[in-house]
Amino acid sequence: MNPTTNIAVRAARQAGNVIMRSFSRLDSLTVSEKQVNDYVTEVDHNAEQAIIDVLHKSFPNHAILAEESGAHGKGDYQWIVDPLDGTTNYLHGFPQFAISIALMHRGRLESAVIYDPLRDEMFTADRGGGALLNDRRLRVTDHKGLKGALLGTGIPYRDQRHMDAYLGMLRELSRETAGIRRPGSAALDFAYVAAGRLDGFWELGLSVWDFAAGALLVEEAGGTVSDISGGSQHLETGNVLCANVRLHREMVDTIRPHLSSDLRA
Ligand code: IPD
Ligand code: CA
Ligand code: CA
Repeated sequence: MNPTTNIAVRAARQAGNVIMRSFSRLDSLTVSEKQVNDYVTEVDHNAEQAIIDVLHKSFPNHAILAEESGAHGKGDYQWIVDPLDGTTNYLHGFPQFAISIALMHRGRLESAVIYDPLRDEMFTADRGGGALLNDRRLRVTDHKGLKGALLGTGIPYRDQRHMDAYLGMLRELSRETAGIRRPGSAALDFAYVAAGRLDGFWELGLSVWDFAAGALLVEEAGGTVSDISGGSQHLETGNVLCANVRLHREMVDTIRPHLSSDLRA
């Protein structure tokens, strides 16, 4: 594991401690609504600060983009941090949430860490070095197509602009596959595709911190990540799709007829 990934693992563990300390006393947290259906608590802020402290100590010249506190510093290296992905799950005691940390160098993802503190599962990837779950090497499934596949997704719940297009995709993909899951943490959804627990995943309207680490993990596990029309604008648009190469192609073909003109852009 390269040194930057190692430090990100340390930062993720610190955040995991913050998150787990409060998991048994959720009733005492102060919840505020950032925008409609978008909740945040002191746990998100404290976990983020713990991550920033660790990263800043080791890499004082690196920039950081973090969900709750925004952009810090400038430079060729930028850390992209989601301190608690799946806040709504967390607040309900629904056991599916994670910490996501990625390092980008001049627009290229180099390191990825996604940590599930409940199950103590540490997903890591270095560009060119493969993807791991704890010490085990990860590989996407070799499922040949939609038939029999298990897919993950995210159902739009804030921005409703693409709801009709999304429901068209959902209707068709659920007819063609063995089933569709909506676990509620995009970071873990990507990690599960990398680990072969899901065959593929798609979601519209993600933010870069939700899936920057996940995108590198899936690629390093041999999968394909793209925007929703099969192109390479996913980090910019947040409309994203991932799977093994063959399934990815089938998903793109199935989704294409449902894309409105602004989703095709
Ligand atoms: C959310 C989760 C969720 C996805 C949302 C994200 P948050 O992140 O990843 O699965 O559907 O789009 O915003 O707000 O819990 O960090
Ligand atoms: Ca998130
Ligand atoms: Ca978050």
